[in-house]
Amino acid sequence: MRRLIKNGILVDAEGESRQDLLIEDGTIRLCAPLIEPDSDCEVIDASGCYVMPGGIDVHTHFNIDVGIARSCDDFFTGTRAAACGGTTTIIDHMGFGPAGCDLHHQLNVYHQYAAEKAVIDYGFHGVIQHIDDAILDEMAPMVHEEGISSFKLYLTYNYKLGDADVLRALQRLHQVGALTTVHPENDAAIAFRRAELVAQGKTAPIYHARSRPLECEAEAIGRVINLAQLAGNAPLYIVHLSNGLGLEYIRLARAHQQPVWAETCPQYLLLDERCYLREDGLKYILSPPLRNVREQDRLWVGIADGAIDTVATDHCTFPYQQRIAKAQGDFTRCPNGLPGVENRMGLLFSAGVMSGRITPSRFVALTSANPARLFGLWPRKGNLMPGADADIVLFDPRQSDVITHARLHDNADYSPYEGFRCQGLPVLTMCRGEVVSRNGEFTGRAGYGRFLHRKPFDKHSHIQG
Ligand code: URP
Ligand code: ZN
Ligand code: ZN
Ligand code: ZN
Repeated sequence: MRRLIKNGILVDAEGESRQDLLIEDGTIRLCAPLIEPDSDCEVIDASGCYVMPGGIDVHTHFNIDVGIARSCDDFFTGTRAAACGGTTTIIDHMGFGPAGCDLHHQLNVYHQYAAEKAVIDYGFHGVIQHIDDAILDEMAPMVHEEGISSFKLYLTYNYKLGDADVLRALQRLHQVGALTTVHPENDAAIAFRRAELVAQGKTAPIYHARSRPLECEAEAIGRVINLAQLAGNAPLYIVHLSNGLGLEYIRLARAHQQPVWAETCPQYLLLDERCYLREDGLKYILSPPLRNVREQDRLWVGIADGAIDTVATDHCTFPYQQRIAKAQGDFTRCPNGLPGVENRMGLLFSAGVMSGRITPSRFVALTSANPARLFGLWPRKGNLMPGADADIVLFDPRQSDVITHARLHDNADYSPYEGFRCQGLPVLTMCRGEVVSRNGEFTGRAGYGRFLHRKPFDKHSHIQG
């Protein structure tokens, strides 16, 4: 089967050019200024559209059990929503398993979650819930036999690691060719503040933000950067960065040639803590919490100047009705996380590219090329070079729409972005040459997505700034 995308503007992380693009058997065959279709070739007219590598969202939590609740998007509804928004690959964070379980236990669980359900390609990040010799010894086979080349550590929540265990994990993961990703928040500081607030009866949603101010996050970022240096300059990836002080620590480490990368999410760029004062403030409970507009501005600077490397969603769906029922008026009982996998590409295209803050190629770097390089998918994903998977999204800058949950494809009962206008829409999404969505409607099928056996972390992989 051959498909020819004609008359579009091809964009990769390096730049733009007017070229046609030929796809054969799910792979990009040729890009050239003028390719004539032959008889067995389906032609897709991309006049006026940007033709870009499909989005790679490296931070989702489908079907995750967080103890007090289970997120309600599984690998079908979650990847369906992703596909409709222009994303062709997700890397999901495995959740915690039974206490004391080994790394392969959760890997098997997640293979079962995803296999018959995913509509686009997927990988998994390992999760470290405790450290002992057996876990350390499992890391190399996870990377080299199972294709799990990144692992997440939490510095807060129930399975937080202490500093010695963080060091042991960083050191071994570095040795075996994995990238360590970290959720950085100072757990003790949060527990202290939270107890104070609760003792004063301050349990409304705004106190979620007050219980974990940006210094809690920035302190943990600074700490883990130093631990990574102590672990032999281990590569480090900071997830869901929400504030400018943390970004300053990341900039400083990078100025000293430390291999540190940062991810932020649309919610930290576009929503702010005033959401917690709304009547439906529970909809916005996540960690780290939403910050103020000044922090947004500082993140946008990092988005534009290259200090921030990726934009992912941290998609983790707990419906509003469930939040109300669980919280009973107390933010400490509300499950944490926001949906958003379907809107990442559209929101960043609109607020980033169309508003003139970033170029189309920077958009590709943030949403696809850098994620592919950091997480062992390059050059198969993240670019439009011949030989790459034909994972493609067409963005039409002339079209606009207002986000409303009624037309999204996840399993939530709300969108944090309800009423946001997006200028520029993903009008066609292809995963390995098959059209998985068109004009926001789903055209794919459950089980089409393949597990991606990712390559070990490559410190020489050049990231686009
Ligand atoms: O509140 C959040 N972000 N929930 C998802 C889990 C995590 O911390 O990434
Ligand atoms: Zn063990
Ligand atoms: Zn997190
Ligand atoms: Zn997360």
